[in-house]
Amino acid sequence: ASGGPVLVAIDGPAGSGKSSVSRAAARALGYGYLDTGASYRALSWDLLERGIDASEAAAVIEALAGFDFTIGTDPDDYFVRVGAVDVTEAIREPRVTAVVSLVARVPEVRVWLNDRFRAIVAAAAYPGVVVEGRDITTVVAPDAPVRILLTASEEARASRRSKELTSESAAAVGDALRKRDAADSKVVDFMNAAPGVETVDSTELDFGQTVDAVCDVVHARLAAL
Ligand code: DC
Repeated sequence: ASGGPVLVAIDGPAGSGKSSVSRAAARALGYGYLDTGASYRALSWDLLERGIDASEAAAVIEALAGFDFTIGTDPDDYFVRVGAVDVTEAIREPRVTAVVSLVARVPEVRVWLNDRFRAIVAAAAYPGVVVEGRDITTVVAPDAPVRILLTASEEARASRRSKELTSESAAAVGDALRKRDAADSKVVDFMNAAPGVETVDSTELDFGQTVDAVCDVVHARLAAL
């Protein structure tokens, strides 16, 4: 409505395939892509690097002033940097995943990052941007013309995640997934679709079908505007 890129907001739990599906959908649509979870992870990585205790909210808030991150919006050239360090791979390490929920529960962190997300979207040189996270449909962009909740059964999510992490058992992965979703759910509700949010359930869909389902929702919503 206000001239910037069309915003496609996608939320969902861990292991729903959200990141890879969102990026593939962005590519198919010719849109940019923003992985907001990666930003929470980059901050978590920076805190670990600086020896700051993620459970100390005051210290985390203070650390924001020195947190300098850059995140790519090109779905074909995805990267995350903290200062000059490329942390694209490092932010997926278990030590980062282990503290990210602590960082994400600090309201000041959320407000600070949300401002960055809105600025990144507004500056993106694309007709649209697919923004993916936990509170995009509800907090970051509740007025987005397209809002999707991407879900899958807990079993499907655990089995997909354990195929990515070949060194861990499906049971251990399922356990970690449940714990992180439980912690994150206390901060924002991404298990239930808010009014006006379209649910795409990928339990019975393969990757390509899920991407198509997301693109179908985008086209239908934009056609109805
Ligand atoms: O999607 P992900 O697993 O990379 O997200 C990492 C963490 O960041 C996740 O545990 C919850 C948090 N997060 C959040 O609170 N709000 C968002 N918009 C995105 C992620």
